[in-house]
Amino acid sequence: MIHVRQLTRDDLDAAAAIEAAAGHTAWTRTQLLECLDHRLQGGWALEDAGVLQGHLMWQRVADEAELLIITIHPGAQGRGLGRVLMERFLQDCRDHGVAQVFLEVEASNAPALALYRRTGWEQVGRRRDYYGPGKDALLWARRLD
Ligand SMILES: CC(C)(COP(=O)(O)OP(=O)(O)OC[C@H]1O[C@@H](n2cnc3c(N)ncnc32)[C@H](O)[C@@H]1OP(=O)(O)O)[C@@H](O)C(=O)NCCC(=O)NCCS
Repeated sequence: MIHVRQLTRDDLDAAAAIEAAAGHTAWTRTQLLECLDHRLQGGWALEDAGVLQGHLMWQRVADEAELLIITIHPGAQGRGLGRVLMERFLQDCRDHGVAQVFLEVEASNAPALALYRRTGWEQVGRRRDYYGPGKDALLWARRLD
């Protein structure tokens, strides 16, 4: 049974463990807490049978928003859970009157790029060597009409 609800401080140990296991972004608990306490517009937790399997955080900037992080536990990836969280985020943004959303992703992150493409995002820019030599950042955007 899939359930999406607000992310809380009580989720952060499990969320940090998912980050460590998933690897690609690997936010620490401290970074997640800082985000939850100070920068966050919204955060979503996804549970399957009562167990946290993923999380998403975003922040608002005027009438735009930035998707900061979306991670699904490696053992639960490829089952549509990332898409569920993404759709909740997009609806949350619409509900808050956000006109356009942005994100930044490493160019080699194929699963993330697939998710973004499948949920209506488009690449709008590239920052060369942003994550280190040969590791470009891609900027993606999606209008919410
Ligand atoms: C990116 C991520 C959140 C995707 O979550 P997920 O639950 O595995 O994705 P889904 O199962 O919902 O798949 C969404 C779409 O992307 C596609 N997709 C997902 N992983 C894919 C892969 N490895 N290769 C090709 N396509 C893939 C799916 O086919 C699906 O498309 P469809 O709905 O048309 O079939 C997950 O891989 C993850 O947590 N990665 C590590 C953290 C990360 O890099 N986050 C992004 C940067 S912050």
